[in-house]
Amino acid sequence: MPQTDRSRTDASQKSAIAQLADREPLCSIRGLGRHLPERQLTNKDLEKLVDTSDEWIAQRTGIRSRRVLPDDWITSDLAAAAGERAIADAGIDRSDIDLLIVATVTPDHLCPSTACVVQRKLGLTGIPAFDISVACSGFGYGLSIAAGMIKSGLHRNVLVIGAEAMTRFMNYEDRGVCILFGDGAGAAVCSKDGRYDVLYTDNGADGSMADMIEIPGGGSREPASPETLEKRRHFVILRGREVFKSAVRQMSLSTVEGMAALGLEPTDLDWMVPHQANARIIEAVGEQLGLPPERVIVDLEDKGNTTAASIPIALCGLHEASALTPGQLIALVGFGAGAAWSCQILRVRG
Ligand code: UT7
Repeated sequence: MPQTDRSRTDASQKSAIAQLADREPLCSIRGLGRHLPERQLTNKDLEKLVDTSDEWIAQRTGIRSRRVLPDDWITSDLAAAAGERAIADAGIDRSDIDLLIVATVTPDHLCPSTACVVQRKLGLTGIPAFDISVACSGFGYGLSIAAGMIKSGLHRNVLVIGAEAMTRFMNYEDRGVCILFGDGAGAAVCSKDGRYDVLYTDNGADGSMADMIEIPGGGSREPASPETLEKRRHFVILRGREVFKSAVRQMSLSTVEGMAALGLEPTDLDWMVPHQANARIIEAVGEQLGLPPERVIVDLEDKGNTTAASIPIALCGLHEASALTPGQLIALVGFGAGAAWSCQILRVRG
């Protein structure tokens, strides 16, 4: 369990927090947007598909329904809708965006990138656009790339989108998985100056856990064939219990390390926006860090787990609710397939 320094005085805590105002941010989030399809797949609906119950799902995960994209939509439509809103929220012209990154594990297709399709749909002609495949930590990795690009001066306004059509990759015969995931997208415009300064970023991965969550079919290891189709190898499979334990351990550790790097403790956080995999995972992380539940965002009851979209969707929810006030500290913490993790600490600009 992560340790925190209980001997610290109030004065040293206040001084550490005050010093953050002078800290040069890595980049800043200037605008946020999200898109959630209206159609819902409820636990009751799932009762008709697999041997499960509303009560089991709600108790074990906190999820009651999840969103499903329209039949004629694909991942790039979700991404473009969220991206459009983030650009409007940032108050800049779309022609000012000079890099587009889409984090997704449910791309429109294996090739070309979904980002190139989103670029066309948003009319961002000519700018570099690429996908990153980091599952639930994809948005955090995207923010890191954006920070590096902005800090180096290579780019000025980077649109980072997490977008997933998870329901297209669900095996609705596997009750251990299909109850968890939903569709959606969240987006951020990152610039040098914005509303939420990124003060710290750290990402990691442990490839020895690469088979903990996977879509095994359709890649070079198991190219699509009648056999892969018959064995339903093109859908998400996961070892839920293992993911659960690793997620609690790593998300807690990442947060402790991130806050320590700023001379602070996890309890100095005003908000924690964790990846929305399971309410029980989130509650366990909050407890380990000593954070009161009202500071730890649980946003999955009507959305499920939207993988790379979950963190920007939840952050955008706080932003839209005007819940964030100057000087507040927010941790974004992800963990998922890979196993890959991410942690960013933001400060609301004064
Ligand atoms: O974003 C990263 C990806 N996220 C995840 O991978 C999620 C992480 N894991 C989890 O959220 C949880 O592990 C689950 C929700 C997937 C499962 O909850 P659990 O408390 O770890 O249950 P379990 O897998 O240990 O299964 C307990 C029992 C089993 O029955 P037996 O063997 O005890 O008879 C399962 O067969 O619950 C059964 N079960 C279900 N029962 C009703 C599994 N899924 C269901 C279901 N409805 N949907």
